[in-house]
Amino acid sequence: MLTSIKTNSLTTDGQKLGMMYFRVAIILFGAQLLMGLIAAIQFLAPNFLFEIFDFSVARMVHINALVVWMLYAMIGATYMMLTEETGHEGVGLGLGKLGFWVLTAAVTVVVLVYIIVQVGSGTEASLWLIHEGREYIEAPRWADIGIVVVVLIFYFNVFATYMKGEKTGIMTVMVANLLALAGLYLAGMFYTDNISMDQFWWWWVIHLWVEATWEVFVGTLAAFALIRLIGAKREVVEMWLWIEVLMLFGSGILGMGHHYFWIGTPEYWWEIGALFSALEPVPLIAMFVHVLYDWGKEQGAHEAKGEPKSVVTNGPAMAWIVTNAFGNFLGAGIWGFFHTLPQVNIYTHGTQFTAAHGHLAFFGAYATILIGMMYYGIQKAYGVKVMSATFKSKMGIFLITFGVLGMTIALTIAGYEQVMVERGEMGATWNAFFIAQELPWYVQAQLWRTIMGVVTFIGFIYLVWDLLTIGKNAQASEA
Ligand code: HEM
Ligand code: HEM
Ligand SMILES: [Fe+2]
Repeated sequence: MLTSIKTNSLTTDGQKLGMMYFRVAIILFGAQLLMGLIAAIQFLAPNFLFEIFDFSVARMVHINALVVWMLYAMIGATYMMLTEETGHEGVGLGLGKLGFWVLTAAVTVVVLVYIIVQVGSGTEASLWLIHEGREYIEAPRWADIGIVVVVLIFYFNVFATYMKGEKTGIMTVMVANLLALAGLYLAGMFYTDNISMDQFWWWWVIHLWVEATWEVFVGTLAAFALIRLIGAKREVVEMWLWIEVLMLFGSGILGMGHHYFWIGTPEYWWEIGALFSALEPVPLIAMFVHVLYDWGKEQGAHEAKGEPKSVVTNGPAMAWIVTNAFGNFLGAGIWGFFHTLPQVNIYTHGTQFTAAHGHLAFFGAYATILIGMMYYGIQKAYGVKVMSATFKSKMGIFLITFGVLGMTIALTIAGYEQVMVERGEMGATWNAFFIAQELPWYVQAQLWRTIMGVVTFIGFIYLVWDLLTIGKNAQASEA
């Protein structure tokens, strides 16, 4: 991927810009994992880097890097498919390129401030210059404003290209959904000293991103990828896409009530949150069935014609997209459903159970398909017709997936112990929290999480190694 900076055979400026976004995304992904490892070690050895690099900082950089790398990869994927999908050269990409550099400079400064300055006094200046203290989207206000400007440029590029090009169903959904996705960011930007109000609006960004607009976004990616990678029929995938949009918004918007159980919002949210969030797994099952069904059907059609079955033009991308179908269903659908009813959530709220769900959902629903799109970009960058998985591709996907699943299971066990001891037996007191943290089940689970984190990181090294080499090797063997 890096070697392709000079010699790539990307044909459009959009694809080149997409690749620039992918490069930063993968670096931030690596940084995210390193921060996670530091935070995980601090669970086991609380004095590790104490007052040098505190848990609060490692955790903050871990989850902010997560969100930022995913946004980078999403922008990258959009630029990557823009011209192919619209049949029109990207509009205003010079400006888009400028936006990329401004954003990347801003992200670098913000991360350095997180790491070096860390915290400030409780004044306006800290909000403007250090961070806003809203989990996942902590960028200080100056950077917030910069992000809005850069995203406006990005949106202009996409929208103008769409208007001039072919208006496929995939592009129509993408353009409408991106407007909502970007617009929601604004809900997390203003300051109030009322913590209930702050949380109320903050969830508009976090929940309405991951359980509505991001899901629709990856739906458009999956639709596009299935057409390109296995030759799925456009009418079929687009029909499913529209159904998913309907179902996702239908359940996801009011499903937000599952975050309004205990933050001081009115009690009617209990019923609304319970009902609509319990429906949320339905579209995720539909998506899962859709991907596997389409794939099976295409394979069957080829077999019937006596053609060789393997028509997958990009092995690793397809593998990651199939993992996405499983991962989204498991992490968001199943692990989300576990704790979404208020009767259950009263015990599980804010335990390691939540962290188990957070890891599997973010990984399963988003990391997977975005990595798949990176492989798609590599295939384009080296102009290879069929790119098969290598040993490194397989090690990458296996170790990362196995590692994240392992972490999820370990955290689920830790959460179970917290629910039993801290909440059930000891009544959720301050003291109960600390007692539960010291019992063997909890400590061992944290140890296993750390071990599985290391497995994930080794998988990441394979992934990067593969991304750097697979294109060139495929090109050589094709020639
Ligand atoms: C890909 C989609 C999803 C992602 C990435 C995701 C991620 C997360 C994360 C990171 C949190 C923790 C937030 C915090 O720091 O407080 C969370 C909380 C929660 N999620 Fe999800 N989630 C997804 C889908 C779902 C679905 C479909 C459901 C329900 C069926 C669900 C139910 C919940 C609930 C109830 C909480 C609150 C947990 C608590 O009270 O501690 N999530 N989610
Ligand atoms: C090397 C692998 C990783 C390690 C060791 C690790 C470790 C951690 C730790 C220690 C926390 C803080 C938990 C807490 O406050 O109780 C955390 C939070 C989080 N991590 Fe990771 N992580 C890793 C990889 C990932 C990956 C791959 C993703 C998603 C793609 C992810 C997503 C998250 C999220 C969403 C949270 C916030 C969860 C919540 O508060 O509910 N992490 N991680
Ligand atoms: Fe939610």
